[in-house]
Amino acid sequence: MPFIGEFSPPGDKSVSHRLVLMSLVAQGQMLVQGLSDCEDLKTSLKIFKSLGGRVEPEAQGLRFYGLEGKWPPPENLELMCDNSGTTIRLLMGLLAGRKGKYILDGDPQLRRRPMERVAEPLRLMGAKIETSSGKPPVVIEGQELMGIEYKLSEASAQLKSAVLLAGLSAQGPTTVSEPHPSRDHTERLIGYFGGQIEVQNQTMTVQPSDLRLRKFFLTPGDPSSAAFFLIAAAIIPGSRVTAQNLLLSRGRSGFLRVLDRMGAMVSLTMVSDTPEPTGDVTVTYNGPLVATDIPAEDIPSLIDEIPILALAATQAQGRTVFHQVDELRVKETDRLMGIRHQLGALGARLNSEGDDLIIDGPTSFILPESLDSGSDHRLAMTLSVALKAAGAPQVPILGRQSIVISYPSFDQHLAKLWHPVA
Ligand code: S3P
Repeated sequence: MPFIGEFSPPGDKSVSHRLVLMSLVAQGQMLVQGLSDCEDLKTSLKIFKSLGGRVEPEAQGLRFYGLEGKWPPPENLELMCDNSGTTIRLLMGLLAGRKGKYILDGDPQLRRRPMERVAEPLRLMGAKIETSSGKPPVVIEGQELMGIEYKLSEASAQLKSAVLLAGLSAQGPTTVSEPHPSRDHTERLIGYFGGQIEVQNQTMTVQPSDLRLRKFFLTPGDPSSAAFFLIAAAIIPGSRVTAQNLLLSRGRSGFLRVLDRMGAMVSLTMVSDTPEPTGDVTVTYNGPLVATDIPAEDIPSLIDEIPILALAATQAQGRTVFHQVDELRVKETDRLMGIRHQLGALGARLNSEGDDLIIDGPTSFILPESLDSGSDHRLAMTLSVALKAAGAPQVPILGRQSIVISYPSFDQHLAKLWHPVA
């Protein structure tokens, strides 16, 4: 029952968040085509509007009006970040140096997620931030900030971005270095919108800068969404799937390098390079996959794709090890536990040793009565693909409605690409 065909994945979620949130501190106006339509983005748009932002629909997309300098300094403004970790962490950086008092809160899943790692460097810059035992709600009273030099203890794009965005309004330069390369959209967009930023390997320095929006922005397709169908093609005989206009920066395409190493046929046609490298990607089934080793330094470039890559590993010959994936424990859910329990319920052999995830394959699927995604959108999509691969799409997945968090058109694309043969 192969996956066959072409599709255009939704606009990239990480880039979309940054476009919306950076418009809060930029001048000018910009027509954005293909902004992600997912629930997390609705959250960023809602907050953009509650801070006074203006966005208008047009035939070609959404027109954003930059808000720099036009913020009414609010007192105790509550900003509900719902389920979105990127919204809350980037906002912490953006608001720390802007006048006003803000309370950032979230839903029960977001209220479990660590915020001290973001608050800590911002405090070193002079920010006044309180978390609730390290988690949301987070209270910020905007202060004048000073640039710092800061070494991140973990490779997290959200954390790096928060410090860089705070650096835009600080006095003096702000330098951040990360232990392994993570997605670099914030750095690229600061430069693209006219900010002063220098990047050398894993160290970036931003100067206090004003940003100016560009006339037009075409949002590249989201690799973290496309991965579900591209990886399905790599594991199901007879499949061939093309994702168009996909974001292909190094920090986001780690899963394609892993698929290639595992023996899938992966071909790329680059379409554009600025502001983000994009292209069309085709994955063709090329016989059974072979296991691979994924070192810690590669994890940030495929962090959101680990659930679906883990499914691929269950079908590969040999032992696949994902090294140091402890970050998965603090995603929307404890994703490491979710992967182990739910793929385990399908017959996979998974273990964790310390912070490593170890998968021995290949395994044949066994069919449980139901599966439980724990309302984790990426796990829910992985389990949907797994059930197609197992030939048992009728097994119910609890919490499947969470898919709208990142990929509302997932079921439409699934129906288009999956070809059950009678
Ligand atoms: C994101 C960074 C990653 C990723 C998340 C989106 C971003 O989180 O998992 O889905 O847009 O910066 P971490 O920075 O916590 O690794």
